[in-house]
Order: sequence, then C-alpha cells, then structure tokens
Amino acid sequence: MQFAKRLDPLQFNVFADMDRAKAKAVAAGKQLIDLSLGSSDLPAATHVVDAIAQSLKDPSTHGYLLFRGTKDFRVAAANWYTQKFGVLVDPETEVLPLIGSQEGTAHLPLAVLNPGDFALLQDPGYPSHMGGVYLASGQIYPMPLRAENEFLPVFEEVPAAVLAQARMMVLSYPHNPTTALAPLSFFQKAVAFCQKHNLVLVHDFPYADLVFENTKAHSILEADPEKTVSIEFFTLSKSYSMGGFRIGYAIGNAEVIQALRLVKAAVDFNQYGGILNGAIAALNGPQEGVQAAVATFRLRRDAFINALHRIGWQVPTPVATMYVWAKLPEPWTTNSIEFCTQLVETTGVAASPGAGFGNMGEGYIRFALVHEPPILEAAVERIAKFLSP
Ligand SMILES: Cc1ncc(COP(=O)(O)O)c(C=O)c1O
Repeated sequence: MQFAKRLDPLQFNVFADMDRAKAKAVAAGKQLIDLSLGSSDLPAATHVVDAIAQSLKDPSTHGYLLFRGTKDFRVAAANWYTQKFGVLVDPETEVLPLIGSQEGTAHLPLAVLNPGDFALLQDPGYPSHMGGVYLASGQIYPMPLRAENEFLPVFEEVPAAVLAQARMMVLSYPHNPTTALAPLSFFQKAVAFCQKHNLVLVHDFPYADLVFENTKAHSILEADPEKTVSIEFFTLSKSYSMGGFRIGYAIGNAEVIQALRLVKAAVDFNQYGGILNGAIAALNGPQEGVQAAVATFRLRRDAFINALHRIGWQVPTPVATMYVWAKLPEPWTTNSIEFCTQLVETTGVAASPGAGFGNMGEGYIRFALVHEPPILEAAVERIAKFLSP
C-alpha cells in the first residue's frame, strides 16, 4: 500500500523510540520511574467528576452536540478569561470548544496554510505543533530559542523570503519544554510583528496556571485585546487535571475561530456534552483544586531540583510548568537520545530527550514532575549512579 508523503516527517518520532527503550527496561526487570510524559497524575476535582456523572444519567446529553458546543460552555470559557485576564470575549463568535487543545492547534494549520506556506514555530517546541503543519503540507521555519535570550525567539532573525510566504506563528508560554515564561512586552512585540507581516498569531497556553513564583503567566489576548491577529488555546488538562477527558477551547479572532470551526465541522461532532458540563463546573466552581495542584508541583520541583543540586547537577529552578529542563553534562552534550536510552535501560528512569523537541533541544533533557517527592528523589539517586558509576 502507498501512503501520503505528508506522513513521512511524522515517522521520525523520538518518543516512540523512547517507548521501546522503556519496554526493554521493564522486560529486563528494571523498576520504571517514568518522568518522560507530561500527563498529570493528579485526580480531577470531585465536583467536576460529579457533574459528568450526573450528565451521564441525563439522556439529553447523549446526542451529537455539533460544532459550537453549548452556550453555557462558551459563556463559562469567556467569563473565565475576563476574570483572569481582564479581556472581554464574545461567547458567540470568539470561543470554540475543542477535544483537547492539541486537537485544535494541530487542525488550525489546515485552516490557515496553503501547501508550501510557512509556519514559524518555536525550536525547541511541542511536537504536535510541527505535526499539524506537516499534515497541512506546510513548511516549518524553526525559530531558535536560546538560553541567553530567556528562550524567547528573535523575530528579526526570520529571513524576508520566509516571511513573504509565512501565514502563521505559534508561541507557547509558559513553555514546554524549556519552562520559560514570557513577559507581556514580548507578547506586545509578537502581536505587532504578526500585524505587520499579516500572520495569524497562535498562542498555546496549557500551563496558564502552573506558575510558582510571585509572577503570572500572560494571555496573548492581554497584548491583543481587540483580537486583531491572535487565537489562544487553553486546555483543562493541566490546571484541572482533566487530561484524559479531552477538553479544551480556543479563544480569539472571530474569523480565525470560524475558519477552525469549518475544519472541525468536516472532522468531528465535538466533545460529549457531559464532559462540557464537567468543564463548566471546573471553570465556574471552586478553584482550590487548581491552587493545590500548583502547590503539589512546586513541592515536587523543589525536591527534585534540590536532589539534582546535591549530586552536582546545576539545573536552573523552573518558575513555571510541570517540567525541569536540564542541560546535559559532558560527555552527553550532543546526544540526548543516547543519554535517555542508556539512562532508562540502565536505571529504569525515563526522561525525554531534548532532540525530540527540535534541533535546538539537543544537549538537554526534560523531566516531567509526575511523581511524589520520594520517587523523584529515588530517581535522582539512580541518575547519580549512572553519571558516576
Ligand atoms: C504545549 C502543549 N500543548 C498542548 C498539550 C496537550 O493539551 P491537551 O491535553 O489539551 O490536548 C500539551 C500537553 O502536554 C502541551 O505541553
């Protein structure tokens, strides 16, 4: 059988290789400590689960929802944005429910790019941003994120020839995998750049709440309150520990929302109404669970970073997200895949190789803080033995 060429770039998947290495380690009797996946291990709040359970018994939730979801959901999403970021949102034209935010960011290039058009993506960045561009037969221009620039791209570096054929830029802060935060002034620059070059500005915002210090994550819409070029993707996966429920939404420019809706109308009939009801309960209800999740990830971060420092691995303390982005020590600085493969096969500790997030990720690895402190500390003990056998 012959398959579409657009699948070719999707075949290269470092994370599938890591899955094989993990399976090999388990088969060899290693006890796995899996820090390679950013899937929260925390439960969704009881009032959220209750709202979904009640919906299940209500037959009026059992049919198709069609493309815009429910008005109650769109209003809850719009109000949440206004309360949190002071941005006014029209629930009728500026909100679109999604089956997880990844579904939305991966479908959006189909609405924006013609074959061969460029999308400007962060390097390193979230792999599904690349996947969506490949599926739309677009081209990727990787904007390098360097530690010396606080992992923010330098827009002036994008060549004029690329810009002439570029239609969209994708940003995401707090950033997976580097954990960087972006100041509002950077977002203002990004909005002005996209306005000037007629680009759709996409902001993927899953870690909106996972910020640890006395600072906050900004919405791109604070820098573009008129929504001239911007669309932002939020998910309930992280803040509300609802990853498995697959619920997120896009908020932004009404024309871009309408274009994404057209793509989705050809693809899906929306998330189940009961899950939307759970999301409404999460967005409108008590927020203590969000604060508790942030406190949990802060504790884990401190335990893990302190343990790494004790063994002499000087990794910066992340101010946001559920990850640690660690520069590899010698002699591993150019081979994160080999490091992660050997680490898991020798010790059972699984991490994500930086190279899987783009060329600029090489030389780093990402740990996801998805276990409690004693397990994280046990992982560091095993890492210490691996580094100094
Ligand atoms: C940057 C980024 N976008 C999207 C997602 C996935 O979000 P969702 O569960 O809503 O699809 C993740 C999950 O780790 C992520 O890190």
